[in-house]
Amino acid sequence: MPRSPATIYVCQNCGSQSRKWLGQCPDCGEWNTLVEERFRPTPAGGGRTAARSAAPTAFRDIESQDDSRSPSGIDEFDRVLGGGIVPGSLVLIGGAPGIGKSTIVIQVAERLSAAGTSVLYVSGEESERQIKMRGERLGLDADTLYVLAETDLAAILSEADRHAPGLLIVDSIQTIFSSQIESAPGSVSQVREVASRLMMFAKQTATPIFITGHVTKEGSIAGPRTLEHIVDTVIYFEGDRHHNHRIIRATKNRFGAANEIGVFEMTASGLVPVGNPSELFLQERPENATGSVVTACMEGTRPVLVEMQALVSGTKFGSGRRMTQGFDQNRASLLIAVLEKRLGFQLAGEDVFLNVAGGFEIDEPAADLGAIAAIASSYRNLQIPRETAVFGEVGLTGEVRGVMQAQARAREAQTLGFKKLILPESNKKGLEKLIGIRVIGVRTLDEMLDEVF
Ligand code: TYD
Ligand code: MG
Repeated sequence: MPRSPATIYVCQNCGSQSRKWLGQCPDCGEWNTLVEERFRPTPAGGGRTAARSAAPTAFRDIESQDDSRSPSGIDEFDRVLGGGIVPGSLVLIGGAPGIGKSTIVIQVAERLSAAGTSVLYVSGEESERQIKMRGERLGLDADTLYVLAETDLAAILSEADRHAPGLLIVDSIQTIFSSQIESAPGSVSQVREVASRLMMFAKQTATPIFITGHVTKEGSIAGPRTLEHIVDTVIYFEGDRHHNHRIIRATKNRFGAANEIGVFEMTASGLVPVGNPSELFLQERPENATGSVVTACMEGTRPVLVEMQALVSGTKFGSGRRMTQGFDQNRASLLIAVLEKRLGFQLAGEDVFLNVAGGFEIDEPAADLGAIAAIASSYRNLQIPRETAVFGEVGLTGEVRGVMQAQARAREAQTLGFKKLILPESNKKGLEKLIGIRVIGVRTLDEMLDEVF
């Protein structure tokens, strides 16, 4: 029997569509991700508002809406959003199961409700009783928080229409389905349809909407990367469940800077904002240990001091292994090669392990100097004084290069009581005058190693 032409195959990883089933998605290269989905064309004119005259508006006549942001009541969360909740925005909060998505949204809901905003919390995963139990655990006391356990998009939208909340929360987009689409909840076409209908609702009614979404083990929000294009803001939870701290990061934000982070600690009574993340990441620093140094990173506009640890030990195999955690492995190999070639370190027969303490991830070249200092400290078995911090990028000739936002990094080190800061010479200007901390500019790795030990 010929297939109905309304059948299409959709890659559950990237959303690419195909007429035929294929073992490998031609777009993203993933295997076994194509799933048959029934496609119902939108009836003519249906779903869209009647054609309006689309006359352009003069730029200066468009109302600015920045002053209409409303604070969520949790500073760390507002920072990530770019200063508060924007009316009509659709925010996606992604993360691994159990990391704290439902917890953060319900905590925001409580704060808003305490400030007099009505919040409609739609859960497709938990019953009203379960939500109540969680709320009691969090000590919630919210007058204008309404809970709806529902998975049908049409019912949710009509309830939202009737209720007209100040914030709509949809807990887990993967559980909501639209009866317009025949495939199962959580499939790419469902998720996309639900997200774009919610987007339309947000824009038409100026209601801000938060949706949560589970991520796959590869780290993308289950199924659709396309979802990231639909929403205004994407916030991911980072950090693993072995640590108590949780980092939320905006990877996309139409209303603010991307890459801003907020740091929380998961406690028995919910997520508690951590005002000074550096203190959190440094609190377990070992005393008198070799192979440990503190480096200053930037996360968005915010400086964070983290401890880098290295362990260099004779290999039991032919050639040494290089393993990293929280630091790019290729970058580490490159830095090790620079140490060998420019400073004569004999590392070929050594295993080199590099770790960023506390489960933090560093993704910027400014941490190069920290990595090198930690490796050198372990290799030479020399301690780096506890009150010393370093940062800077390292080039292939062993030169130390300037990095951005040196001032913010230096101030963070000063605030936390560091006594000596080693940084690129070109970044030193204007920082000599910092009180209580000696700032030393270096041009080469040789100079850095002379200063650090
Ligand atoms: P949750 O927000 O339900 O995760 P998600 O919605 O992302 O799946 O968080 C659940 C985890 O957080 C669970 O393992 C228990 C823990 N937790 C606490 O430690 N303290 C708390 O106050 C709450 C509410 C949860
Ligand atoms: Mg949840």
